[in-house]
Amino acid sequence: MNGSANLNVMIKAARAAGRSLVKDFREVENLQVSMKGAGDFVSKADIAAEKILKDELRGARPTYGWLAEEGGEEPGEDPTRRWIVDPLDGTTNFLHGLPHWAVSIALEHKGKIVAGVIYDAAKDEMYFAEKGAGAWMNDTRIRVSGRQRMIESVFATGLPFGGRSDLPMTLKELAQIMPACAGVRRWGSAALDMAYVAAGRYEGYWERRLNAWDIAAGVIIVKEAGGFAQALDPADKIVESGTVICGNEVIFENFAKVIRG
Ligand code: IPD
Ligand code: CA
Ligand code: CA
Repeated sequence: MNGSANLNVMIKAARAAGRSLVKDFREVENLQVSMKGAGDFVSKADIAAEKILKDELRGARPTYGWLAEEGGEEPGEDPTRRWIVDPLDGTTNFLHGLPHWAVSIALEHKGKIVAGVIYDAAKDEMYFAEKGAGAWMNDTRIRVSGRQRMIESVFATGLPFGGRSDLPMTLKELAQIMPACAGVRRWGSAALDMAYVAAGRYEGYWERRLNAWDIAAGVIIVKEAGGFAQALDPADKIVESGTVICGNEVIFENFAKVIRG
């Protein structure tokens, strides 16, 4: 696909950050034995990837605003456009040597996401979409799955970790969906969970307590792949809400009914 100049800038930035993360990931795999300093090492890898992204994206488009997980928000001269960036989504996986993490970049224009890139650098899978141009993984156009029955469907979610207060709610949702479907997965990267819905690997995904940088790129990739994506409360704006429910267009209604109760 011939993407816009902005999309090409995003893909180039994602590849550069991905290269740096892959190099550091090999090192983390070695560090597992000693564990000493692995956490510090990973947070340095994360910050280094964000710096690469900032240099590439703001270097190419100096007037756009910036919102990223590590460095926070910086308004741009152009108040209508901003990059929304998670340099490393799936940090816990990365730290544990699990090859399931991604770079996520979205471009917002006048409050709407117009382009998204999610790069799974360990598997060299580049997911991307632009408004009106479909969703892609590397050279292949992707579409949400065609499965229509809940009982044949696989769903993904995020499980609360540490002492997070959303555990009872999550357990209630799991009790509702597990008997009705073929399986629930918790793979640990919100961005890749959405990319996998877009690629037809899962039928749907839901999670709460997320941030704009976890969801922004995924939303446009799912929608351009023919899927539905909403905030858990349909009245909310998805990226601001920090919640998401998405799925293929056939399953979405039933899936959302089960999760929303
Ligand atoms: C996390 C991942 C995870 C989700 C967490 C996120 P991070 O992002 O997307 O799947 O369950 O809520 O915070 O911290 O690895 O960038
Ligand atoms: Ca994240
Ligand atoms: Ca992150």
